[in-house]
Amino acid sequence: MKTPDIQPLRASLASRTVEIADQTRLPGEWKIVSLASVGEAAHAIRTMQVRGAPLIGATAAYGLALALHVDPSDSGLRRAYALLLATRPTAVNLRWALDRVVKAVSSLAAASRADAAWREADAIAEEDVKTNLAIGHHGVALIERLAADGHNPVQILTHCNAGALATLGWGTATAPIYVAHDSNVAVHVWVSETRPRMQGARLTAWELRASKVPHTLIVDAAGALLMQQGRVDLILVGADRVAANGDVCNKIGTYEKALAAQDNGVPMYVAVPSSTIDWTLADGSRMPIEERDSGEILHDVGGEVIAPAGTPVLNPAFDVTPARLLTGLITERGICRPSAENLAEMFPEQQA
Ligand code: MRU
Repeated sequence: MKTPDIQPLRASLASRTVEIADQTRLPGEWKIVSLASVGEAAHAIRTMQVRGAPLIGATAAYGLALALHVDPSDSGLRRAYALLLATRPTAVNLRWALDRVVKAVSSLAAASRADAAWREADAIAEEDVKTNLAIGHHGVALIERLAADGHNPVQILTHCNAGALATLGWGTATAPIYVAHDSNVAVHVWVSETRPRMQGARLTAWELRASKVPHTLIVDAAGALLMQQGRVDLILVGADRVAANGDVCNKIGTYEKALAAQDNGVPMYVAVPSSTIDWTLADGSRMPIEERDSGEILHDVGGEVIAPAGTPVLNPAFDVTPARLLTGLITERGICRPSAENLAEMFPEQQA
């Protein structure tokens, strides 16, 4: 099995280094940045040098390890946890990863905490690759079925970047696409540009190109037209937080895609590692939706002015798609219809 050779984070306990690819520089440049402290890890997440739910979680885990090298006390742990948790509000993988590290170290003597935290961060990173590959192997069945029905190529629409760049490898929504491509199933991906941060245009187009997966970039609003014209066979997106009933919080614009998909009978699946399920939320009504700076809308990514200075702006970065609009969730354990019952059946250990 080939894998896209894209690793947005590399870490080594031996050399105590965490290196990330600065995604704000893509597609122009693959620039490696070293994170030497918890402050630098928090900065990288906040400024979206790293982004995407699983990668945010893993970076935060290493950030906690970096903090414990300097101050392994309980109060040091609490401070670093709070700093990292406050970086971005929506992706639940952040809290999930931090909690895992805290659980792994809090009963240990101070002297052994940093290395244990690092090992837990390594485990999170390694598991992420396996999880995404499992999602890929489950999800590819959907693509193969469409191919067997005569869709050649299978036309897949995706939004934002839930790709290798958003994870430790393979991506979530892209994993079935990469697995299909590697098995010579013909696919073509409609890449929705994802205003305002342009993760589709800057990142998904970049990694699909690097991986030689055929694709075409479209403006966000073109998705519904393509569905109406019968040019989309399947929608695959990722998620930042999924409620226990299958409501999905993902990049702004996902809900509109789901509405158009429903109207046009296009199946829409969300690739969801279990680290993205927030079992504390019964439904999507209380999802923490990040609101970002007005500058992202008043200027384009190159800094060119788009709207008059002083124009009032609202910039919610995520939306919530009700489970009823979705065809299914692709998890590392398999595919299910999005409902509380099905998720509970798939993850019985979470029900206690
Ligand atoms: O604001 P971003 O770029 O962090 O948003 C990313 C997304 O919305 C992704 O779809 C989501 O995190 C899933 S990544 C596998």
